[in-house]
Amino acid sequence: MSYSIENSIKGKVCLITGGTKGIGKECARQMAKMGAKVIVIGRYEKGLNEVEEELKLSSPESVAIKADISSLAEIKEMFLQVKNRFGTVDVLVNNAGTNRRTKAIEVTEEEWDTIINLNVKGAFFCSQEAAKLMDPGKVNKIINISSQYGHVGSSNRSVYCTSKGAVELLTKSLAVEWAPHILVNAVAPTFIETELTKELFEDEKTRKNLLERIPLKRGGTVKDVVGAILYLASDLSNMTTGSSLLVDGGWTAGS
Ligand SMILES: NC(=O)c1ccc[n+]([C@@H]2O[C@H](COP(=O)([O-])OP(=O)(O)OC[C@H]3O[C@@H](n4cnc5c(N)ncnc54)[C@H](OP(=O)(O)O)[C@@H]3O)[C@@H](O)[C@H]2O)c1
Repeated sequence: MSYSIENSIKGKVCLITGGTKGIGKECARQMAKMGAKVIVIGRYEKGLNEVEEELKLSSPESVAIKADISSLAEIKEMFLQVKNRFGTVDVLVNNAGTNRRTKAIEVTEEEWDTIINLNVKGAFFCSQEAAKLMDPGKVNKIINISSQYGHVGSSNRSVYCTSKGAVELLTKSLAVEWAPHILVNAVAPTFIETELTKELFEDEKTRKNLLERIPLKRGGTVKDVVGAILYLASDLSNMTTGSSLLVDGGWTAGS
């Protein structure tokens, strides 16, 4: 039999935080098309209803649940619903994340808390709750969506870089602690055209500057990132844990 990501994802319970837009939404779509039971998390009813309707066309058991991932109480309540409905989680994609571009000297406590509470605290406690539901007799997967800025620093992104650097070491720490039944890896993209980066790509000068720094001379697409997530979610990556797969077109490869 030939190797197949699709066969390995079919029938799995896959939970994606921040699955109403961008990378998370495309990941949910692809997993549902492969026959996974997909759970999508977001904060707003409209986006959740739309994505749930779409996912059900390919995978009728898929569901969208409202939760703010920066709140531990909401994470716990969401996982209670997941437990009651599915009993388990096979794959968790910690994708919900946010960024603000601010000079370090001007960062406020509110900004710090917003970014760190979602990108770091949210990913940690979703992993903790998912781990409680994962079957110790199976190979389960956690995939953290990090960034190239978890590997290198950047001006005006000190809090975001701090958060993604933390995600990188969270990935390694959980990989060591939860082996062998939970494999934990990260995907670290460069600039991908989504709502999070819309403003940057719309500004011609910024766009040009960004593309000059990427050896492959293009911005990433959601397909580039989802491809990496699907690989790490599948059994083709079952000897890989604690790693970070850069999807950065070579940004961090040079100086
Ligand atoms: N785009 C890039 O260039 C890029 C590059 C490197 C890494 N990343 C990382 O990739 C991930 C996804 O980015 P993206 O560009 O796809 O973002 P996006 O288009 O802004 O989508 C973010 C998703 O997260 C959800 N979300 C935001 N805050 C949330 C909260 N407090 N609780 C629950 N859900 C929340 C949003 O849904 P609601 O608004 O409905 O809640 C949405 O579904 C992030 O971790 C980001 O840091 C992105």
